[in-house]
Amino acid sequence: MGAGSVGCLVGGRLAAAGARVHFIGRPRVVEVRRTEGLTLSDVEGPTLHVAPDALDALDALHASELPPDGAAPGLVLLAVKSAGTEAATATGARAARGHAAAVVANGVDKAARAQAVAPQLRVVPGMVPFNVAELAPGHLHRGTQGVLAAQHDVASTPWLPLFARAGLPLALHADLAPVQWGKLLLNLNNPVNALSRLPLRAELMQRDWRRCFAALRDEALGVLRAAGMEPARVAPVPPRWLPKLLRLPDALFTRVAARMLRIDEKARSSMADDVALGRRTEIDALCGEVVRPARAHGLAAPRNARMLQLLDGRWPEAPPVMTAGELWSALKRA
Ligand SMILES: NC(=O)c1ccc[n+]([C@@H]2O[C@H](COP(=O)([O-])OP(=O)(O)OC[C@H]3O[C@@H](n4cnc5c(N)ncnc54)[C@H](OP(=O)(O)O)[C@@H]3O)[C@@H](O)[C@H]2O)c1
Repeated sequence: MGAGSVGCLVGGRLAAAGARVHFIGRPRVVEVRRTEGLTLSDVEGPTLHVAPDALDALDALHASELPPDGAAPGLVLLAVKSAGTEAATATGARAARGHAAAVVANGVDKAARAQAVAPQLRVVPGMVPFNVAELAPGHLHRGTQGVLAAQHDVASTPWLPLFARAGLPLALHADLAPVQWGKLLLNLNNPVNALSRLPLRAELMQRDWRRCFAALRDEALGVLRAAGMEPARVAPVPPRWLPKLLRLPDALFTRVAARMLRIDEKARSSMADDVALGRRTEIDALCGEVVRPARAHGLAAPRNARMLQLLDGRWPEAPPVMTAGELWSALKRA
């Protein structure tokens, strides 16, 4: 559900592994999928192709016509941006008819919001750690590494063999919340990357951009400490060490963080794509998730609040174009 970057990369690989996958999306996207099929390239593996005639794409308005010939889908993968959660869940539930499991991609509150809209689905929180970009119509590229994760649940375990066959092993966690927070901490680089207008690697090579990311993380870590939440490690470096690493001078950082910098030259955050395409970003699901609990615990999170303002404050106008030094000064003043 949501035939965009993540939906098509994951769904496409499941289809290539033999699963019957229906891709539900916007009419304009469905049209592209039907004519181009899918090309799925990968930072560390071979490229797969799903031919247009092997691809079952349908527009959301016709979702209730599923299944055209038999069994209803057993699993809904909800792969939409935060703001689309409720509408997409309702469509996914209609397509699944009756009972199905739904695994929700990313966001600390998305699964609860989806469950509220569709009590008939068994909603399981999920986490996509890697970066996916649509490099050309129908060409999805996985630009970074990482293992998919979901909450351990009777609804998620039957799907493990399929995901493993698709080369996307699914790691199950008794409690996904620390993993989701670990991922959110990493994603605090997304708004920095979006404002930089640079590919991820080029942005991370500059200390002032990294300082901004580190400052947002430090603030978020303080809030998590106050909330009694210990984020899980979802990167090569433990969450509380990363800000120190990020602040190192460039020459030292490139040596110490060589593994972290193993990113495609072209990879950008999906928030950078949103800004480039004039779409509203998911900033509220990132910095907003730091600002709100900060308030609840009598704390302030001025730097995350400033990012909210920079990315969303002038919507639908584009966020300002800033240098690394200008953003760092703005955050220091916040
Ligand atoms: N891309 C990444 O690198 C990446 C990595 C990890 C996690 N994630 C997370 O994965 C989720 C999906 O991200 P994404 O990058 O795949 O987003 P995306 O490329 O924007 O794909 C979502 C697609 O679903 C469509 N959609 C939304 N609501 C719909 C509805 N009700 N009916 C039909 N189509 C609908 C969107 O259309 P509209 O644009 O018209 O709404 C869009 O085409 C997000 O939570 C994101 O944070 C993304």
